[in-house]
Amino acid sequence: MIVLGVESSCDETSVALSKDGKVILSNVVLSQMELHAMFGGVVPEIASREHIKGITAVFEEAIKLAGVSVDQIDLVAVTQGPGLIGSLLTGINAAKAFAFAHDIAVVGVHHIAGHIYANQIESEMQFPLLCLVVSGGHTELVLMNRHFQFEKLGETLDDAVGEAYDKVARVLDLGYPGGPKVDALARRGKLTYPMPKIDLGEGYDFSYSGLKSHVINTLNTLKMKGETVRIEDMCASFQASAVEQLMIKSRRAFDAVGAKQFVVAGGVAANAHLRDRVSDVFSDVEVLVPPLKYCTDNAAMISIAGYYQYRFGNIDENDDFNGYPRMHLERK
Ligand code: KG4
Ligand code: ZN
Repeated sequence: MIVLGVESSCDETSVALSKDGKVILSNVVLSQMELHAMFGGVVPEIASREHIKGITAVFEEAIKLAGVSVDQIDLVAVTQGPGLIGSLLTGINAAKAFAFAHDIAVVGVHHIAGHIYANQIESEMQFPLLCLVVSGGHTELVLMNRHFQFEKLGETLDDAVGEAYDKVARVLDLGYPGGPKVDALARRGKLTYPMPKIDLGEGYDFSYSGLKSHVINTLNTLKMKGETVRIEDMCASFQASAVEQLMIKSRRAFDAVGAKQFVVAGGVAANAHLRDRVSDVFSDVEVLVPPLKYCTDNAAMISIAGYYQYRFGNIDENDDFNGYPRMHLERK
């Protein structure tokens, strides 16, 4: 079964083709990152226009690189939400038009299901699994007892961890997107700046607004005193605390549910310190972390998730679905 996936929820226009839920035949990603960098973050209006400009060429390139003819494509899978509505609608309309013109079925996929299924590309997900989802918009612990069944055990009560990385990078003038920059600088830093005590609380929820505000306040105080900021040390100190919170809650949840695998998903899964800590904290457990190129937004993951959704998920009978800026993972 050949699935064509489409992703356009934020600032990447991407089309990919995959075979039998496993082999990636092509994965074309057109990034708008440089355009948004000068504004310090994604500008929704610019993102929508860029998707419109690029999407046809990205479709053509992905099909050409996959080396298949259009009549070999069995299913079209497109990110339905959550994301920027103008961006989502460009991908959805292109996917529907393509599917309609070639008489192919089309399914709408949850963006986070895509991130989770990035783990199925080079490994084999085994159930029950516990997945830590860490992206620019999400920080969640999701339990899966079988394919395409999601149960949220915990989530952030305020900011997402990727959002905190981006904000800290912004106040340190590191540019957008901040996560990879903080990651790189932290490697050369020492844990010299004190960070707030991690609030362990009950259960499996996260919180990042306190940590973010603490970094901003510390920087303001240093500036007022005329002291220089050791940027590498600040990145390392922030990151150690941010990742430790993820580890404490993840291990707690993992031990409580007794899953077979611990799985990481989303853009922040590219973080070197997080990857190191996961292999330490879960050294006694089978761990899946996506290959770096499938951590941040791409259509390969949507195409794989689409395959599993078609086989195991509840899919709408008709192709008359809409795009949603907010959308529950558990409904699918
Ligand atoms: O999954 P993604 O591409 O988009 C969303 O669905 O949100 O994640 C993007 C987020 C951004 O906040 C970005 O700064 C963060 O992932 N990110 C990282 C790294 N690479 C991307 N954060 C920390 N370290 C990284 N290496
Ligand atoms: Zn994403």
